[in-house]
Amino acid sequence: MIVAIDGPAGSGKSTVAHAIAERCGITYLDTGAMYRSVTLACLQRGVDVADADAVAALAQGVRIEFGSNEGGQTVLLDGVDVTSAIRTPEVDRTVSAVSAIPAVRAAMVSLQRAVGEAGDVVAEGRDIGTVVYPNAEVKVFLTADATARAHRRAVQRAGKDAATDASATADADAERAILADLKRRDELDSTRKEAPLRPAEDAHHIDSSQMGVEEVVAEVIRLIEEAR
Ligand code: DC
Repeated sequence: MIVAIDGPAGSGKSTVAHAIAERCGITYLDTGAMYRSVTLACLQRGVDVADADAVAALAQGVRIEFGSNEGGQTVLLDGVDVTSAIRTPEVDRTVSAVSAIPAVRAAMVSLQRAVGEAGDVVAEGRDIGTVVYPNAEVKVFLTADATARAHRRAVQRAGKDAATDASATADADAERAILADLKRRDELDSTRKEAPLRPAEDAHHIDSSQMGVEEVVAEVIRLIEEAR
């Protein structure tokens, strides 16, 4: 069984996909972490992200693996743990340029498909239901309004969790900056030529602006049971 969860940054895809993976005992695949890892490799090695050929060569040569520790899933880039390093504002700012390069996408999509061929998976990203796994049994397009998404990200950056603590707050300036970055990335991700962010025709739309994580997870589990 393949469960595809697509949507814009901060819509809660990771939290929901992770919960589904745990409860259903299937593999969790964070495809955004893969594009982030390629971006980090460019920044670390001084590769100009405007040089599509150089970025593509790097994407084809790096080893991206997932592991786990007490804190949850870890991401390894050429054997080095980059779980935190791929979530910095610098990577946030640069990742859309890297993920718009067709050869980078081709390299990542073939790795992602290999994971799906190996067994059941819940994958989250932007093009999972449209490009990576067009035959996924369950497709969800998860959205939330931009201010709700920025708030969740800002709270997360402050080391708290808006999903479990509705009264959690974050620095207002930080939240404004995150909102501006989310809107910029939404625009870039949904207007790019290659695999833009858009719902698959057969995706179930869930707007999580006013929903708790549990409610969203319950809805996705209902869809999984229906598809079995
Ligand atoms: O989900 P995220 O914020 O970690 O994703 C980081 C970036 O990677 C996002 O701005 C767009 C890109 N991305 C993509 O183009 N395709 C995917 N399947 C997943 C992420």
